[in-house]
Amino acid sequence: MKQSFDPANHDDVDIYELLIGLIVPRPIGWIGSMSREGVRNLAPFSFFNAVAASPPTVLFSTIRAGGARKDTLTNIEETGVFTVNVVTEETVDAMNLTAGRYAPSVDEFELTGLAGVPGTVVDAPMVGEAKSNLECRLSQVVPIGTDGPVAASVVIGEVVRVHVDGAILDGMRIDQESLRAVGRMGGATYTRTHDLFSLDRPS
Ligand SMILES: Cc1cc2nc3c(=O)[nH]c(=O)nc-3n(C[C@H](O)[C@H](O)[C@H](O)COP(=O)(O)O)c2cc1C
Repeated sequence: MKQSFDPANHDDVDIYELLIGLIVPRPIGWIGSMSREGVRNLAPFSFFNAVAASPPTVLFSTIRAGGARKDTLTNIEETGVFTVNVVTEETVDAMNLTAGRYAPSVDEFELTGLAGVPGTVVDAPMVGEAKSNLECRLSQVVPIGTDGPVAASVVIGEVVRVHVDGAILDGMRIDQESLRAVGRMGGATYTRTHDLFSLDRPS
């Protein structure tokens, strides 16, 4: 038997738990940004996806817990640019390390030892070890909710450059077996992407 939940009658955090356990697997946008003072920042966001191809557009959502802003949001609003770095099995531990709550003065590239490669068209750092990086310009920030523990800001960006390791490219297609992408399930659970299957679409 199904149980039903009206979000109006539950804690925001409980509804958040339901959503992150049900909307799975989620891709992880590993977002590189830079403060106005030039401090590099790197953090993962799994409220993330590609949402359009013309212009190519990605979005992710930063939670503003009780009004507190994450460094990523502050940096992107200040500079108008960011990068998305694709998380794979090879980089998943480093990704997890960058999710720690560090002061704005902390450079997560130095913290992890990851290679911070400057963007070629935007002034934001890319993860050298990632098999793909997207350079993005901020399109808009959309606030969701006003206060409370899980109000959010959705950051929408236009992809202005795509970098892909040639070893995972088959023409313009990505070889999924070689990519070895990692997705986020609920809480601290992740999934690998080895168990692939195909479906032919109805004509
Ligand atoms: C896999 C993963 C996914 C995450 N997804 C999100 C998310 O979608 N939104 C969010 O606000 N925080 C998310 N976080 C938490 C942020 O990464 C964390 O708060 C980080 O410290 C933010 O860094 P910043 O203050 O440098 O921007 C996620 C953490 C992990 C490990």
